[in-house]
Amino acid sequence: MKKKTVPAIRSMKDEHRKIVMVTAYDAATARMIDEAGVDIVLVGDSLGNVVQGLPNTLPVTIEDMIYHTRIVSRGIENAHLSADMPFMSYQASKEEALRNAGRLVKEAGAESVKLEINEDYVDTVYAINKSGIPVMGHIGLCPQSVLEMGGYKVQGRGKKEAGRLLGLAKAIEGAGAFSLVLESIPRSLAEEITDSISIPTIGIGAGPGCDGQVLVINDLLGLSPEPTPKFVKKYAELREIVGKSTRAFIEEVRSGAFPSEEHSYD
Ligand code: KIV
Repeated sequence: MKKKTVPAIRSMKDEHRKIVMVTAYDAATARMIDEAGVDIVLVGDSLGNVVQGLPNTLPVTIEDMIYHTRIVSRGIENAHLSADMPFMSYQASKEEALRNAGRLVKEAGAESVKLEINEDYVDTVYAINKSGIPVMGHIGLCPQSVLEMGGYKVQGRGKKEAGRLLGLAKAIEGAGAFSLVLESIPRSLAEEITDSISIPTIGIGAGPGCDGQVLVINDLLGLSPEPTPKFVKKYAELREIVGKSTRAFIEEVRSGAFPSEEHSYD
């Protein structure tokens, strides 16, 4: 398989080939999903919830993102590696945004950065992209805005809000982003945005009309505690398997059945 570059990902839209993106937070998982053939590995700031046990992504720092992106990069050969810019790593000023985007590339090996964007940060997308760092936008439900939204709710319902998101998507395309994540918006709006811009859309909770789909690895593998959002499809039940295997180990250690001859040295 060939390395997935930004131009290669962009051209997948024109060729009507669906883009597959999955999150990873460590080298071992990154290696498995890279070998399975995903197009993009995203080091999401969802690591706050998934790895750090936090209630939301707000406390995740740029140092956390650099650490996890660096270790994920060691597991990747073919997939494109994108890293989230965490809350308050790009909001204070364009200069700070550029410095932090640069750190993710220079110190951690990211090949693009992802930003949750509203109208105030379109210029930041332009500035980062102009510096030579590809940008993936993220609109709709933006988890970094959880305090403002008052929870994790479907976005873009109603004509006015749908129009705003469509305009924002076009502005992000105009600012030079190479792709756009659409999270938790009605499928009809996701289709309209996808048809209206030339860069690929990657949906999560945005229906089948997007140019690609993304899931958090822990959700995909059935490792996340219930309840998971409606858009999650579990392709395995690893939480159950981890519990069952650990209980079997506990029982065998306590009964003396483990280690047996087979697992002991002479
Ligand atoms: O942080 C994350 O994992 C994300 C994806 C769910 C798109 O932003």
